[in-house]
This record gives sequence, C-alpha cells and structure tokens, in this order.
Amino acid sequence: MSNDTQRGAPGAPGPGPGASAAMSGRDGLVSAPAGGVVPALSVDGVSVRLGGRAVLEEVTFEVAPGELTALIGANGAGKTTLLRVVLGMQTHTTGSVRVNGRTGAARGEIGYVPQKVLLDPDLPLRARDLVALGVDGDRLGLPLRTRERRELTEEMLEAVGAGAFAGARVGSLSGGEQQRVLIAHALVNRPRVLLLDEPLANLDLRSEQEVVELLARISREQGLAVLLSAHDINPLLPVTERIVYLEGGRAVSGTIEEVVRSEVLSQLYGRHVDVLRVHDRILVVAGEAREHPLRRKDEEGPDAGVVSLR
Ligand SMILES: Nc1ncnc2c1ncn2[C@@H]1O[C@H](COP(=O)(O)OP(=O)(O)OP(=O)(O)O)[C@@H](O)[C@H]1O
Ligand SMILES: [Mg+2]
Repeated sequence: MSNDTQRGAPGAPGPGPGASAAMSGRDGLVSAPAGGVVPALSVDGVSVRLGGRAVLEEVTFEVAPGELTALIGANGAGKTTLLRVVLGMQTHTTGSVRVNGRTGAARGEIGYVPQKVLLDPDLPLRARDLVALGVDGDRLGLPLRTRERRELTEEMLEAVGAGAFAGARVGSLSGGEQQRVLIAHALVNRPRVLLLDEPLANLDLRSEQEVVELLARISREQGLAVLLSAHDINPLLPVTERIVYLEGGRAVSGTIEEVVRSEVLSQLYGRHVDVLRVHDRILVVAGEAREHPLRRKDEEGPDAGVVSLR
C-alpha cells in the first residue's frame, strides 16, 4: 500500500481553507480512493519533458478497482501525455506507474481508446471485425479457437449495446455507436484498467449520457478502473465523485468536492479561479494568466478565461 492511500480516506472532509496542503509534498493528491484496496492504477510523482519543456510535473493519483475517475484539463494540459505514460508509450523523467501494485503493466492489462480514431466510411471493416481484432488469446491464457473468439466478440458487443449494428461498416456508424465499438475493442481482453482519451468529444448530449452511463455500469460490474479524459466535468457528475484536475502539467486529485474549489484551483493555476455551482452544473472560471494589453491588472474580472463552460 502506498503512503498516498494512508493519507486520506474516501469522503474525507474537503481541505477547506488549508487546501494548500494538497499542493505540497507528493503534490496534488488530496485523498486516495477506496481506503484499504490496492489501487488498480497508481501514478506517483510522474514528470515528463518534451521538446525541452516540462509537460507533466510530479503528477500523483490513484484509481481503485470499480471506480471511474475523470481526468479534466483544457487543451494542452497534458491529458494525452499522461495516458501515454500509463500505457508505457511515453517515457517519464521521474516517478512510477503501477497497475495492480506492479510496475511494467503486462500486455493487455490496460485497455485504451485513443483520442482520435478516424474511420473512413468506405473502410471494409464491420464493427464486429474491429472488436475481434482486439482479441488476444495469449493474454487470455489459452490458444483460442475461431468459435471461442467469435463468442468473446459477440459477448462484448452485447455488453456495450452494439449488437444491433455489429454487422455495419464501422466507418458508417454514428459517433456514439463508434465509441461503443471502440470501448468493446478495448475491453475484449478483459483488462483491469481502461483509459479513454476524450471519448465524449463530438457526441451529442444523448450519446454523451449513454456512453457515460455505459462506462459507469461496466466499471461497477467488472470491477474495472476507468480513467476518462475530458474538458468538462459536468457530463461526468452523475457517475463519478473522483477527479484528477490537470493544469499546465500539474495535477491535483481527490473527490470533486475536495478539488473543484476556488482555493485549490487558484493554487493549481497560479492565479485567481472562481468555482460556480449553478443548477447542478459546475463552472470553473480562471482569470487571465498575463496582463491584458487593454485592461489594467486590477480590472481583471472572473470572466477573463472560462475553462469549463458548455
Ligand atoms: N512530441 C512532443 N514534443 C513537444 N511537445 C509536445 C509533444 N507532444 C505533446 N507536446 C506538448 O505537450 C503539451 C501537452 O500535450 P497533450 O497532448 O498531452 O495535451 P492534452 O491535454 O491531451 O490536450 P488536448 O485537450 O488538446 O488533447 C502540449 O503543450 C503539447 O504541445
Ligand atoms: Mg489530448
């Protein structure tokens, strides 16, 4: 068990005015998930430099089995880089990543839905073919026969509600349908951790809700640790209490109540941030990072930079 897990219990009271403690030491972990459980995913003090620049700095967080965590940040905050580190596709200069308590995740232990998947409508590949391509018999511990592969594929298509369009060309499906197929593809080897990079981008409200509910259900039923990146926390509020908030490569993690607070985010951003709660929605409004050429510093209003508005 890591020190992080001992530091705080789930549902621990928010850090209040003393929130600055959250940003010191092993920065950013306000409370650890599900006390007593070995985290399915543990990221500890990870830093990445790219092109001579610090892209991630000492990022620390944990995701428990059966839990969905939102990885929230604006464009360029470092979300994709962080997911690539977890996948072992990106080297890091400091820190460690553990899956089920071990470094160096085995093949197939992590499922991944990347940020940009462009599927040409003319691609001669059915939805079920794409899912079947993900089946790795070695990972499942047995040389699979054709019939077993097919059964596994069909089971996963049904689990994500893609049975009805399994025979359609995958490039011709709607954005929401494609997401279901990509999730089935990522899950067909029964990984313990599922990473999704902006799976809600370009989905309409209804598809967004359906995909979020699907992921929450699968996470719960299969004890799967899900880490899902997005620009906006609001679509995820019904299904998650935990968040990793990335800004400029630094992260703070904990429950939404603990993290999405003016004092915590102001420290993360290094400038004043307001957090507004309106009709069950959260709006994070950050002041300008630099002086505006047409405005004196004391005139900078909270409307200077809206980070999470839909
Ligand atoms: N290979 C690279 N070389 C140099 N800089 C890079 C490289 N890859 C990413 N970066 C920079 O690292 C920062 C984080 O990029 P990243 O793609 O992780 O952000 P993101 O949060 O996923 O953004 P988005 O929401 O736009 O997908 C950006 O400033 C980006 O320009
Ligand atoms: Mg990205």
